[in-house]
Amino acid sequence: MNDLKEILKELESKIKDVNDIKQLNELRVTYLGKKGSISMLSSKIKDLPLEEKKTFGSELNKTKVKATELIDGKKKEIEDAILNKKLENEKIDVTLPATKIPSGAPNILEKLIEEVEELLMSMGYDVVDGPEIELDKYNFEMLNIPKGHPARDAQDTFYIEGEEILMRSQTSPVQVRMMLKGEGKTPIRVICPGKTYRRDDDDATHSHQFMQIEGLLVDKDISLSDLKGTIDVIVKKLFGQNSETRFRPSYYQFTEPSVEVDVSCFNCHGKGCNICKNTGWITVAGAGIVHPNVLKMSGYDPKEWSGFAFGFGAERLAMLKYGINDLRTFYNTDLREVKTFDRKEEDSND
Ligand code: DAH
Repeated sequence: MNDLKEILKELESKIKDVNDIKQLNELRVTYLGKKGSISMLSSKIKDLPLEEKKTFGSELNKTKVKATELIDGKKKEIEDAILNKKLENEKIDVTLPATKIPSGAPNILEKLIEEVEELLMSMGYDVVDGPEIELDKYNFEMLNIPKGHPARDAQDTFYIEGEEILMRSQTSPVQVRMMLKGEGKTPIRVICPGKTYRRDDDDATHSHQFMQIEGLLVDKDISLSDLKGTIDVIVKKLFGQNSETRFRPSYYQFTEPSVEVDVSCFNCHGKGCNICKNTGWITVAGAGIVHPNVLKMSGYDPKEWSGFAFGFGAERLAMLKYGINDLRTFYNTDLREVKTFDRKEEDSND
């Protein structure tokens, strides 16, 4: 009997120091397990005289129940403590402001190109693609710029293999590809936005890689006024209804007549400022009426067909639209800088 009391006392004092489930399980095994101290005592019942068997048996049972209660009670205590700690740690303050999740956004150059694409698609144009690694034949020869022609010097070209394969220096070769596809039979109405390459020095207004938006329309009875109207629609869409376009005579081998397209300066509206170098105008594209030789070389009979073509400098347009003065900004991956685009875009929508 005394052993039973001792055992309970010992358990009571040991259990005070227990504070995790593993220790508690060890205690359970020590006292209540098959070979635990309480179970061991029960094996002694059979050796007792009859009258003691009863009292000892009942006392042993009580001890077992008490020990089980002690251990179960402690178990609950430990589990409650774990739960409370977890709740404490996971407490949510619903009044706190939410963490802002930064979201990505398309590059504004890409957005501008999409804007032009959408506009021209609504006018019945297809958006087409051409290879960036191009044949000399399409980049120059079939655009009426034969080998040795001085006009080639103006486009300082990256050659890849000999003199035949190059990085396209303009998107105009896509015009040739489209005319060849049309086989001299079908009208053409396409734009091709894409990358172009020149061995230019990288500075604020030049880059070895830049983007152009090429356009070509071939049909019957096309005149310069069609070109002017089309360009005017594009410019007004990008720069607002109050912007004006001006056509200056120019020279390209693949168009005749050729023009350069100026847009009234978005900043000073023609008065003159440092952005437009005090002229009130900013050049955004080369354009013209497709040269008969170019039509002929690609299988279109110039007596039957005529067309116009234009090539916008995409970065040029975006610089103007968003008031950016360094072309390299578009290819910058510094988020602090890129983020300012969003603001510029909001401003330009105002
Ligand atoms: N390809 C010319 C350039 O890179 C731009 C250009 C001028 C494109 C006249 C045209 C055009 O389609 O008709 O300088």
